[in-house]
Amino acid sequence: MYTDQTMLESIRRVEAARAENVKLDPRRMTAEEKDQLLKAYHPDYRADQFTQLAMGPNKGGKVPLELAALLQAHSRIAGMQLDLSHPDYDVDVLVIGGGGAGTSAAIEADNAGAKVMLVTKLRMGDANTMMAEGGIQAADKPNDSPAQHFLDAYGGGHFAAQKDLLYKLVTEAPDAIKWLSDLGVEFDKAPDGTMITTHGGGTSRKRMHAAKDYSGAEIMRTLRDEVLNREIPVVDFTAAIELIKDENGRCAGAVLKNMETGELLIARARTVVIATGGAGRLHYQGFPTSNHYGATADGLILGYRAGAELLYPDTLQYHPTGAAFPAQIFGALVTEKVRSLGAMLINVHGEAFMNPLETRDVAAASIIRECSDRHNGVKTPAGYAVWLDTPMIEIKNGPGTIEKRIPAMLRMFGKYGIDLRTEPILVYPTLHYQNGGLKITSDGQSMVENLFVAGEAVGGIHGRNRLMGNSLLDIIVFGRNAGRSAAARSREVAMGKLTLAHVDAFEKELAEAGIVTDAVSPKLLPDYTRKV
Ligand code: FUM
Repeated sequence: MYTDQTMLESIRRVEAARAENVKLDPRRMTAEEKDQLLKAYHPDYRADQFTQLAMGPNKGGKVPLELAALLQAHSRIAGMQLDLSHPDYDVDVLVIGGGGAGTSAAIEADNAGAKVMLVTKLRMGDANTMMAEGGIQAADKPNDSPAQHFLDAYGGGHFAAQKDLLYKLVTEAPDAIKWLSDLGVEFDKAPDGTMITTHGGGTSRKRMHAAKDYSGAEIMRTLRDEVLNREIPVVDFTAAIELIKDENGRCAGAVLKNMETGELLIARARTVVIATGGAGRLHYQGFPTSNHYGATADGLILGYRAGAELLYPDTLQYHPTGAAFPAQIFGALVTEKVRSLGAMLINVHGEAFMNPLETRDVAAASIIRECSDRHNGVKTPAGYAVWLDTPMIEIKNGPGTIEKRIPAMLRMFGKYGIDLRTEPILVYPTLHYQNGGLKITSDGQSMVENLFVAGEAVGGIHGRNRLMGNSLLDIIVFGRNAGRSAAARSREVAMGKLTLAHVDAFEKELAEAGIVTDAVSPKLLPDYTRKV
């Protein structure tokens, strides 16, 4: 409930301007305007928040300070002598991570006849996939094409996407939707059975397929059921804390840690798939996050220490509309679908200051500018924010639209006495996605042989900015791809003796680089204890 007088006065200005604002279609920024805006206001351009790596495959490369501290930290098993000769698990394909990418990989590896096991540090489904709201892109309507999808995503990602990966993403998208539908995902459909699709920021066609505003939960529910129905072994509450190689330098398993007892276990595997998700819980630059509790960049650390290269680790996505009020939901995702349905971004004076469907990096930078140099933000307990004028949705689409299309949003704000059918909501950018990650080839393999990667831990699919709905898509396309490739490779592998020599070598390199640190990684869980 809004009780603060300044907020209430600003709401009155938003209400007074609504009838005129609702008719506006603010012009899109030019390429030059976007470029200047990003350089001045996007957090990726804050030079003091980045450093150069002093060691490892990306030595000299730029990364956020928080990530550098973990990439250049000690191993959790540094100095330990582990017996690798009697593994606790012995499988063809070891999948690390229980979100959408990991489960898709496990299903396809199982389909291919491999002996697969999935380990996850929390429970299967405790992942960013579960929290995804707005939808999944696929060009499967007659007015659209994968080529059009490619152009939108390539431009939105600043022409930096790896073209072969993006090609795979868009051309396999229609089949990904069909696969999910066949497995049981209930996408929103019109009475005649056709899929309802909407725009997202930066899309030239309506190609966002959704299950209301809990698309990720619906997809995760289905994938989890499929893993359980197939009786694929799942080891919950068990984190991978180091990769194991064989004497020939190929990935050959992982050291696992039981999160409840602390016991270390050895998994031998012919191939490994990293599907550990994102890094929001590292709270880069102090931003809140829309991410799951377990999003601590673990896969990047494991891969890097084993010699896998990173691509674009310096580019993060700040979702323009994180909840900025009330404090209980600070940083939670307010889906872009709210803007797709017609809500506009409005400043403290009731002015529409940008086109609501600019790409995310541009929208986030624009909000940050409004709340800083332009002094047009609404004061909140945590700082400043702008309005997302949600009552516009029902003016544009008719009564009942909010309850029907974005019920999760209605419920999230309703719990705190804010009815988004009649009142606007306050938003500010929240850390949402890591655009960068481990570099892969189009079969999903990293720069380390027999180590595959899928989902948010991959870098390069989207370039330097991802469009809405291309992440739920990439976890399916590249999750399935990695599962199939890892299973196929596992049939060819002649494994040598297991070794952790690369961990010792990394520790040596750390010392030689003069890095003195108490930090150990992977982080596994965020630390929210108060420092006194
Ligand atoms: O705004 C959203 O619903 C987020 C979607 C995405 O990151 O793809």
